[in-house]
Amino acid sequence: MIIGGPASQILAGRVAAILGEELALCDYKAFPDGEAYTQVISELGDNIVIIQSTPTNSDVVYLLQLLDVCRDRNVSLVIPYFGYARQDKVFKPGEPMTARAVATALNPFLSNGRVYLVNIHARTILSHFSCPSENLDATSLLADKIRSLDLVDPVVISPDKGAMAMAKTAAARLGTQCDYLEKTRHSGTEVSMAPKEMDVKGRDVAIFDDMIATGGTMATAISLLKKQGARKVYLAAVHPVLTGSAVIKLCRSGVEAVLATDTLDRTVATVSVAPLIADALKASKR
Ligand code: R5P
Repeated sequence: MIIGGPASQILAGRVAAILGEELALCDYKAFPDGEAYTQVISELGDNIVIIQSTPTNSDVVYLLQLLDVCRDRNVSLVIPYFGYARQDKVFKPGEPMTARAVATALNPFLSNGRVYLVNIHARTILSHFSCPSENLDATSLLADKIRSLDLVDPVVISPDKGAMAMAKTAAARLGTQCDYLEKTRHSGTEVSMAPKEMDVKGRDVAIFDDMIATGGTMATAISLLKKQGARKVYLAAVHPVLTGSAVIKLCRSGVEAVLATDTLDRTVATVSVAPLIADALKASKR
């Protein structure tokens, strides 16, 4: 049986359809004081798959509530978008490692479990789970979508060196070159980029990154590439967090199209990770 948390209902439905498994009927709401309320109405079997992204604090609580409902069962937990992943280190004295704190809160419910994440920001986060954990890579799914758009002389760009692995995977899938931009982050909302050696003049560009949050990184990258003579610039991101005015920033920068996956339920989520998750769940049964 598949349980879709409130942040992953569409994706859970897609995974259930692929696997031919029942999608549990659940009720999610908030009490008048804001506290989360969860009820799983369907009768549960012994083996459960919970699918719930955690873009907000409430979504973490809903996930804990679902895990508590399933506490005596075998749980495969899929967190397609794992919030707090960028707090993967203690950057300044006195700070928590919040990604570890969240994983630690989930661990007591996963003694017979397995965890699946999708393009987790830092692989070290997997080590904070006490049960087996796996990172699923949606890059090829996004690359296939880009290929279907028939780009002219395409080049894949990573907005920074850290995301080069993803750009390399995409470029290999598309049979093209890749490069990266050098990025300096000034604050949580401001980034600037210095151009690196590359020739994008007259070429279509696909920028690949794990997530778009404020849109600052991508908007800066698009403006830079456009100034360098890029023809059309497409964005491919796994997690469309898209906070505040991210979409406006991207449109103003001249993006041709934003392609993202359904790890978060957004309008730009035109590439589904459901087959990736379904394959991983099937493989663990073998
Ligand atoms: C950073 O390391 C990530 O890979 C993304 O580049 C970043 O989180 C995007 O954030 P924003 O959209 O706020 O610039």
